[in-house]
Amino acid sequence: MTFDVEAIRQQFPILSRKIDGAPLVYLDNAATTQKPQCVIDAIVDYYSHCNSNVHRGAHRLADEATTKFENARDIIAGFLNAASRNEVIWTSGTTEGINIIANGIAQRLQVGDEVLVTEMEHHANLVTWQQACKRSGAILRIAPINDDGELIVSAFNDLLCAKTQFVALPQVSNALGTINPVIELIVSAKAVGALVLIDGAQGIAHGAVDVQALGCDFYVFSGHKLFGPTGTGVLWGRESLLADWPVWQVGGEMILSVSYQSAEWNLLPYRLEAGTPNIAGIVGLGAAVEWFSSLDTIGLKTHETALLSRATDLAEAFDGLTIVGRAKNKTGVLSFLLDEGHPADVGFLLDRQGVAIRTGNHCAEPLMKRLGVPGTARASFSIYNTLAEVEQLFTALNKVKAMLA
Ligand SMILES: Cc1ncc(COP(=O)(O)O)c(C=O)c1O
Repeated sequence: MTFDVEAIRQQFPILSRKIDGAPLVYLDNAATTQKPQCVIDAIVDYYSHCNSNVHRGAHRLADEATTKFENARDIIAGFLNAASRNEVIWTSGTTEGINIIANGIAQRLQVGDEVLVTEMEHHANLVTWQQACKRSGAILRIAPINDDGELIVSAFNDLLCAKTQFVALPQVSNALGTINPVIELIVSAKAVGALVLIDGAQGIAHGAVDVQALGCDFYVFSGHKLFGPTGTGVLWGRESLLADWPVWQVGGEMILSVSYQSAEWNLLPYRLEAGTPNIAGIVGLGAAVEWFSSLDTIGLKTHETALLSRATDLAEAFDGLTIVGRAKNKTGVLSFLLDEGHPADVGFLLDRQGVAIRTGNHCAEPLMKRLGVPGTARASFSIYNTLAEVEQLFTALNKVKAMLA
């Protein structure tokens, strides 16, 4: 198997778009990835041929829809190396997955218990735990990072103690691209008896994830950052924990039997999936994961490393540009500041040249404060980006610099 970026690009119709006459250079992949034709086709095919509600219909369409929907669960269970398909819970995205777990933990935490997160959290993995701690009287501890944006592992370990009930960590920082040594951190957290959740929103699209090898208790991600549809996501959790996890939403699908005064909850995975799910989205997510799994993972990693390395070289040579986040182990994220202008102006002027990046605090306001920056401009690369596009970013940045000067 070889990694052919041009062949991959051909599969993404949106990449042939032009913005004001200029070819689109899409470098906002940490926010959301584009979708290959097979994912778009899976959704169109679902709605064109077998749209129906799942699990309860006594007709052909309902059978077919249920088969496709549950087949997607098997695909994801295999992709994550889950011990059982019952451990794969559909969500609307990473945020919902974290909320389901934080809601359950908040009911178990006692006054004085501790929850540990890091200074590099996305708001989804910070505000949830703030609220869980506020509701229960627990204390939220924050593990520090260094000025390069790397977690200080010794400080993280020092914060772990018998009171630490829960640890929630990002596999990869969305704002800086830092890859955390999650296996090592999970081992330390488990040694004090804590449950561990890995926020895989930014980790999932960079190679295979094996939840059993990771050793965490929960792993969450969003479909839209893995070439799948928006409004889809996965909460993976150990079956022994999820089997009696406090239910999140109540209603149809998640019940076994109901009387006017009470209800009995369904078994996994349905007990945490109330209401009609995003069936077409889940079918699309299954297609996305099948597609992603068919890629050459080593070639993919080599390509991503080459993109980041070229971008870093060009950034270092660019007069008046400061890279924010210089971790030794990073995904394809280049967060930066230009001396000449505010990130928002940089983003606006790049867009005028067809280059799409993201600017602002990247839903990591405390991290920006910690680093002493107002926000950053962030170019984030994916497997369909080319070295030529990285170079186009810097050609465009040169023009931005001249315009702002
Ligand atoms: C690290 C991280 N966690 C959580 C989220 C939230 O994901 P979603 O908005 O898809 O729920 C994001 C989104 O950017 C993220 O990057």
